[in-house]
Order: sequence, then structure tokens, then C-alpha cells
Amino acid sequence: MNLLSNLVSVAEKSLPASPTSPHPYLPTQSSTVAAETDWLFEFMTWMSILSCAAIFGAMVYFVLKYRAKARAANETASATVEHNTTLELTWSIAPLFIVMALFVWGFKGFVVLRTTPAESLQVNVTAQKWKWLFTYANGCESDKLHVPKDTNVRTVMSSVDVIHSLYVPAFRVKMDAVPGRFSELWFNAKESGKFPLFCTEYCGDSHSDMITEVVVHETAEFDTWLEKCVTFTGAPHELGAKLYEERGCSTCHSVDGSIKVGPSFKGLFGKNESFADGSTLKVDENYLRESILQPQAKIVKGFAPAMPTYQGQLSDKQIEGLIAYIQTLK
Ligand code: CUA
Repeated sequence: MNLLSNLVSVAEKSLPASPTSPHPYLPTQSSTVAAETDWLFEFMTWMSILSCAAIFGAMVYFVLKYRAKARAANETASATVEHNTTLELTWSIAPLFIVMALFVWGFKGFVVLRTTPAESLQVNVTAQKWKWLFTYANGCESDKLHVPKDTNVRTVMSSVDVIHSLYVPAFRVKMDAVPGRFSELWFNAKESGKFPLFCTEYCGDSHSDMITEVVVHETAEFDTWLEKCVTFTGAPHELGAKLYEERGCSTCHSVDGSIKVGPSFKGLFGKNESFADGSTLKVDENYLRESILQPQAKIVKGFAPAMPTYQGQLSDKQIEGLIAYIQTLK
């Protein structure tokens, strides 16, 4: 994908879902913790602006008032520095109360954000260069985070490669997904709709492609979606087409012949492929299967060995679906 169209598509996808934010410069407050977080943020911002104005104002005032050239010829600078105890105590103690208030306020919010309610809907999250995969208890898998409204949702996250970070600005929640361990996050969405979700930890070339959506459904609608999600009844190549989008293949492999991170799928099946080690092979089912499960086994000439393995992440049926889909791309 060329840089400009990539930037434009990211900018379009980053637009807030609905313009109901009370602050023009912040996204909508669409979770239970958003309003409180914004209050604290606003308070800190205004405190900083006021102290900044007071300090720079006083500085400019003193610079003008006490500049050397205004001093009369017979006047000399005072030999000792005078001080005003009341003034010094005031400007030391007042900020102490302000920062203590900030600490208590911030700590209370932190405890809420980090204490997942016992009754929560669990969604497992797998981060990978460069896609998100959301898995539900019934086996449903999705590239978008679907959740019901007014429900506590707990996301249990991990990464298969590098550190990624899940961020939903409209919910004011963010947490890293780290390889080799689980991290968790919870939220309760207050309004239905679609909200941008993205990776906020630079994770390589297509970091900006890790932008997707949280789809907040009305409760009854969500149950229907979840049921439908797990039972796929289409033909194998239709399953493959669905997986191509959902499992992130589209990030690196085009279907129109254009070159991305990896070779295009268009006209791939049956073609004589040349590899980095000088060997060649006619692309068949076994080669495609191997490339999905052990991507490093054969590296196509002119490409970097960048693909992660899908071993343990795709069932045989899903692999067959992808192969069937690639066969349709003549
Ligand atoms: Cu994943 Cu940035």
C-alpha cells in the first residue's frame, strides 16, 4: 500500500464514531470510566496552564521591572537577598494540597481501572504483526471486538511476537499485549455504535494497519451476532475469503497482483515460484499449507522472511478454506 493512501485510510478510520463528546478535542465518553478520566485530565491540564501562565507572567514582569538599565546611577543592588516567609510558605503548601488531591483522585481511578468486576464477559485477544484476533468462549473468532452494551467486558490479551498495545480512545482504556504472558483490561460500554480500536505500541512496518473497531451491540443483538459468528455454513473458498480479511492475510498479501510485504495471491496457484536459495517449485496445496504453518521453510525470491507462523492458530478446515480461496484468484 502506498504511504499516502495508507495515511488517508488511517485518518478516516480514526474519526470519532459520533460527535457527542463534551470536549471538542477529546473522543466521545463511551464507557463508564471515561467521564471521571476526563475530569482528572482537564484538571491537570488547567492546573498546568494556570501555573505556566503565573510563572511566565511573573518572570516577564520582573524582567521588565528590575532590568539593570532602569536603575538610577546612585542606586546599588541589595547586598542580601530578602525573603518573605508567608509568601514562601503559601507557594510551597498550596501546591502540596493540589498534588495530594491529584494523587488521591488518580489512585482511586487507577484502582477502578485495574479491578475487573467479578461478573464479566471474557474475550481473549491475540495480537500479532499486524492484526488483532478476538476469540469468544463459544469458539467464535473475529477481527473486530464485538461487545454488548452495559456489560462488563474483560479482555485477556497476549501477543505471538512483539509488544503491541490495545487502545480504545472512546473508552479511555489501554493495555499492552506482551508475548509470553497475559495482561487484562476491562470496560463497560455505555452506548452502542462503532469505536476505533488501535495498536499504540510501535510494532513494525504495518503498525498503522492494526486499526480496527469495537462494535458495541444492544444486548439482544449481541447474542444473535455471537451465535451466527461460530457457525459458518459457506463453501470452503468463502470461508477462505472471510479468513483472508479477518486473520490479517490482507495486510501483507494482495489479491490484485500488487506487491505488499509478501507475494500477491493473484495467479499464485499453479505458478512456478522461485525461492531465495535458487530452487523453484510449482505452487500446489502442500506448498501453500507449508507456507502457512512454516513460513520460513521456503522464502520467495525478493521477499524478506517476515511472515509469522499460523501453527496452532488455524484448523485444517480453515487452511483448506484459504487454499480454496487462493485457487479462485486466477
Ligand atoms: Cu501492533 Cu503496533
